[in-house]
Amino acid sequence: MQLKVSNHIEDKVGRGEISGEEANRLAAFVETCNRELMTHPVINDNKYCKWFASGAADRDIVKHFIIQFSVFSNLFLIAQMLKMINAGSLEGMRASKEILANELGVIFHKPGAKTKDVADKDQEGDPDIVSIEGSVDGGTFRFRAAHFEWLLKMGQVLDIGFNEMGKRRDGTPSTLFFCDQLAAIYGNEDPNIAEGASFAVENWAAAGFWKQLVAGLEAFKQVEEPKLPLAFFTWHDRIEDQHAGHVMDELEELYFTDEFDEEKFLAGGREMLDGVRAFWTGLNEHRITAAYQAG
Ligand SMILES: [Fe+2]
Repeated sequence: MQLKVSNHIEDKVGRGEISGEEANRLAAFVETCNRELMTHPVINDNKYCKWFASGAADRDIVKHFIIQFSVFSNLFLIAQMLKMINAGSLEGMRASKEILANELGVIFHKPGAKTKDVADKDQEGDPDIVSIEGSVDGGTFRFRAAHFEWLLKMGQVLDIGFNEMGKRRDGTPSTLFFCDQLAAIYGNEDPNIAEGASFAVENWAAAGFWKQLVAGLEAFKQVEEPKLPLAFFTWHDRIEDQHAGHVMDELEELYFTDEFDEEKFLAGGREMLDGVRAFWTGLNEHRITAAYQAG
């Protein structure tokens, strides 16, 4: 995956908001990000996701995967809360709050958009129909729209109890390392480090791992568990496609502020990607060990 500066930059140069020299500096920095972050193995070579996409995961592997994902999904709320608290501007605080509130169950609201006909009120908050666009401002809160509840529904079908999901005690050391790194780096007090982590996380997410997970789960569903709801994963895949463009916009904003520090940004990104990798490596080692034990 190669990142490129957006066309807005040329427009900004055209309007005299930034100089040609500044635009070149940004382009050079984006090249550095391509070299130093986008080549990370968790973006280019995620062995677990590649394997998972092939549909080879059996029931035990899928259960373990859902439990670890639920721990990440729940503990991510702490990191997102820290990011919101440590935001360097009101705008940044609101952007973080959007994500946090939506995770908790506030449905995005798009003014003027025709609300889908929800025949049954119980369906409100169903990830199959819930919006991926708009703002939580003016949105409706539904318990059942909480992303964690979508995972609980998957757990229900797979016989995973409420108390076996989403808690620290349910996480493996590698899952917990990832979650703790999220809180420490993505939620860092220094906006350069936090933004570097955010940039890395978004690019990791845009690199296509949701599609690989959906492919693997669809295969499992067909053979093993026709009732398994996949909307937690399909919803995140849909929203990620839409997010991909925002990442560069944010860097372009941040880059020309006085506080921007290239080294810290890259360090935050690098360390965060190592944390992400720990999560997937843990899952990969688990499935290899399980296959070995099964003979
Ligand atoms: Fe989510």
